[in-house]
Amino acid sequence: MDLIRCRGELKRLDSLRGLDPLCFVPTMGALHAGHLDLVKRAKAHGPTVVSIFVNPMQFGPGEDFDRYPRNLDDDLILLAPLGVDAVFVPAVAEMYARPDGVSVRAGARAAGLCGARRPGHFDGVVTVVAKLFHMVRPDIAVFGRKDAQQCLVIEEMVRDLAMGIRLLDVPTVRADDGLAMSSRNRFLDAVDRGRALALSRALGAAHRAIEEGERGIAVLEDLMALELADVDVVDYASVLSVPELERAESASGRLLLAIAAHVGPTRLIDNLVLEVDGNIVRETPLLEG
Ligand code: PAJ
Repeated sequence: MDLIRCRGELKRLDSLRGLDPLCFVPTMGALHAGHLDLVKRAKAHGPTVVSIFVNPMQFGPGEDFDRYPRNLDDDLILLAPLGVDAVFVPAVAEMYARPDGVSVRAGARAAGLCGARRPGHFDGVVTVVAKLFHMVRPDIAVFGRKDAQQCLVIEEMVRDLAMGIRLLDVPTVRADDGLAMSSRNRFLDAVDRGRALALSRALGAAHRAIEEGERGIAVLEDLMALELADVDVVDYASVLSVPELERAESASGRLLLAIAAHVGPTRLIDNLVLEVDGNIVRETPLLEG
């Protein structure tokens, strides 16, 4: 596993370019089973590069950039057995040489949900992902459905800026009790860990209601809100159309059920992507692949 720390060393990735597509999994480290599923999916397609970079531009003032977990040694131990070909770990100065440098502005899909709650967040995400794409020059990039809006915002950038990279999304990996894996789960104490289950429970309740025939958006959002009564602040619990992320008229077609909530000092998100076709309801990928 080749450890690449600066732009000059990226030339070594050329040895991985061949018949099979070069695959890329961008991360902020503090890796868990969710990240590892992305890597396994990538490895099934071709040689795989993972980046680990806690991107300051996507954190707002007062957010958890400083305390975001960083443990490169542990991350490398998790990646090595998966046959990862290279790990790119740039320093902040490598990615942001000048404070007033060129950046990318996220498109319409970034307007609501986390984009509304975290101003500038998705500009930070698409800027760093665009830079990483240009440095690694992958054929395929793999993202987690857990960050559903992020997947759609990146897809919009790749389309609008004609980047020509194929995007794949991987289903959310959960703990046995349903909690979506997240690097931020390590901030939860035992009590908050229990309260955090409200997010997946709320998605489950809305999912069941849709399966039982409920199509009213307001009814479904109320159901989710009811399950979230015990968390500290609910940023949103919404049912939106995919891929536009606009308010759905009724629960049909491709839908995103999306929740963001604060549990103690920790902000968590969870999502479910459903395709509702008549009375057939199934989980579905977000990206065309
Ligand atoms: P990070 O939060 O480290 O996540 C890296 C990738 O892992 C993302 O595509 C995310 O959706 C995926 N992921 C996280 N938890 C997951 C889970 N439980 N199941 C499946 N996939 C999961 O997302 C970022 O970093 C950053 O915004 C980044 C794209 C790297 C840009 O800085």
